[in-house]
Amino acid sequence: MFITFEGIDGCGKSIQISKFRAILKEQGIPLVVTSEPGGTKIGKAIRNILLNVHNTDMANLTELFLYLADRAQHVSEVIKPALDAGKWVICDRYYDATTVYQGIALGQHEKLIAQLNHEACLGCEPDITFLLDCPAEVGLKRTEKREKTDKKRDRFERKSLDFHVKIRYGYLALAHKHKDRFKIIDATLHEDHVARKIREIISPYLPVV
Ligand code: TYD
Repeated sequence: MFITFEGIDGCGKSIQISKFRAILKEQGIPLVVTSEPGGTKIGKAIRNILLNVHNTDMANLTELFLYLADRAQHVSEVIKPALDAGKWVICDRYYDATTVYQGIALGQHEKLIAQLNHEACLGCEPDITFLLDCPAEVGLKRTEKREKTDKKRDRFERKSLDFHVKIRYGYLALAHKHKDRFKIIDATLHEDHVARKIREIISPYLPVV
């Protein structure tokens, strides 16, 4: 099984992925938990360029190619070998993020993105994509809070509310286009409630004990 998590910045992906990982571990499922951008050593170097707050003059195509370079490396080094070995792969963001952030939000390169995503994914298509959906204001508030406590907001998290609204509706539009794969979860609910919903959806796929 290949499962991806998507959503706007601050939607709560990280906490849900760690809860989800615990459920799968408990079931004894062999799994790899990974993320984009930065799921490999080369990818980490790419991530540093992408999210560096000083790189304000990055051209849109540069940004797109860097995400795709990260993905190409990640799929060939981590995702494909794990799936080929029969493991479950849980990935924090995948090709839908590029479709939405670099494509829908900026309103450009739609065909090129589809083609590059197709090339980079080497046939590794997610079976289920959880979209943790919440209003942009909620996500932004969470990332602002994060800045005060642990880490500084990255280049994307500093973008305007308007940008994050576009991302949210971009994801929802994509989810409606791929209804069978996407599971939309209301991420404004309490984190335990969100985790329960994810568990309910995944339970038919878990081994019978
Ligand atoms: P991520 O590490 O998921 O940040 P967070 O954990 O704070 O959500 O992603 C970093 C940023 O990269 C995020 O703002 C979304 C963006 N991104 C793209 O724009 N395109 C992509 O293809 C991917 C994978 C991420």
